Amino acid sequence: MDYETIIEPFRIHTVQAIDLPDADARERALLRAGYNLFGLHADEVIIDLLTDSGTGAMSSEQWAGMMRGDESYAGSRSFYRFEDTVRSITGFSHVIPTHQGRAAEKILFSVAVDEGDVVPNNTHFDTTRANVEYRGAQALDLVIPEGRDPSAIVDFKGNMDVGALREAIESAGRDRVPLVMVTVTNNSGGGQPVSMANLKAVRAVCDEYDIPLFLDACRFGENAWFIKTREPGFEDKTPREIAREMFSYADGATMSAKKDGISNIGGFLAMNDSDMAQNARNLLILTEGFPTYGGLAGYDLEAVAIGLEEVLDENYLRYRIRSTEYLANRIHAAGVPIVLPAGGHAVYIDAASLLPHIPPHEYPAQSLAIELYRRGGVRGVEIGSVMFGRPAPDGGPDIPGTMELVRLAIPRRTYTQSHIDYVGEVVIDAASAASDLRGYRIVEQAPWLRHFTARFTPLGS
Ligand code: F0G
Repeated sequence: MDYETIIEPFRIHTVQAIDLPDADARERALLRAGYNLFGLHADEVIIDLLTDSGTGAMSSEQWAGMMRGDESYAGSRSFYRFEDTVRSITGFSHVIPTHQGRAAEKILFSVAVDEGDVVPNNTHFDTTRANVEYRGAQALDLVIPEGRDPSAIVDFKGNMDVGALREAIESAGRDRVPLVMVTVTNNSGGGQPVSMANLKAVRAVCDEYDIPLFLDACRFGENAWFIKTREPGFEDKTPREIAREMFSYADGATMSAKKDGISNIGGFLAMNDSDMAQNARNLLILTEGFPTYGGLAGYDLEAVAIGLEEVLDENYLRYRIRSTEYLANRIHAAGVPIVLPAGGHAVYIDAASLLPHIPPHEYPAQSLAIELYRRGGVRGVEIGSVMFGRPAPDGGPDIPGTMELVRLAIPRRTYTQSHIDYVGEVVIDAASAASDLRGYRIVEQAPWLRHFTARFTPLGS
């Protein structure tokens, strides 16, 4: 019985109503939010693909686990269950819970990174980059060249450019590189996976210079599935075995459990170095909480521990990766340019190619993201010069980001195929009006992570 359709390997147990605001209501919402989709209220959105972070549906097992949550301030049973699970998946000896991924990053960089340092990554996510820069250090993106070309079809487009890594270490000097990071999957570069061979090669360079390697492990399960299905020699291994091998090349990891922990909140920092872990725990107490809860409730620790197991289920991962690819295939077949191949958690529309008449400093991907909301109430997110560009020091046009993408991130186990069919229609409709779309100007922005709060005004037609 080998049918082609890969079904959702769950049935729906609890439902949440979706509001259906009309076109006038959506236009008013855009105006109020200063054309920043982060400023929309949830009831103004029809299909919310802003992020796959914390937006997934938990399983009945996770909800049952939450009832078992032990809320002891110190030494909670839930912490030990969480620690056992993280240790068994990653192999790291020290497991430090945090309320989400960026808290793990902040603590790691506070204990490991100094002013003037350089931190290479395949591609830093916005919070990772901001946390590195906040320390006065430089965040370097060293993905392979194909990783910056949306149309290049490569199996492991998230790989680190190992030659560029070596050069970066040589030119900065080993002492200025406190750690190397690899993000799996490479979120800002299209949700593209990193191969086991590449992790091994990065490890070898790190060994040569005696530099610790950390994984930004948010989507480690999805990365493991890509290795299983694309990298020779791994087809008969389980996602769990593959994940364990991925982590074995690293000295530690930061994790947002809001992604592949399939939880609504949570994260961790894990590592093997005992001295560094002690320093990290001391800081944790200052900002997050005691080391056996790290800013989470006991019930959150339970939900994460169970989610981390569920994410490695083959039926889940097969469906997950297929459902993203399904949306990608649909809009690609209609001629809409996207990052190829499809990412694990999201489809990335290539706005630079769809809207060549809008220059980067007028934010083509922001313009397209607004249009998807305007036409169909679909909320995606700009990953382009709003998120990664910089105001020019001389007040001229922004220094642009590397790519101009609109990311449609798929929450885990949340939307059905008809929701996704609807999204496909909206994207194709908006793309058909591409030549009418106009750019935007930023009228208000914060000094870092400006995309969350900036306000925009449309440029005249
Ligand atoms: N690293 C990566 C690769 C991420 O994608 C994220 C979050 C983080 C770190 C930070 O984790 O949100 O728990 O503090 N990404 C979300 C997104 C927000 O929409 O891609 P966090």
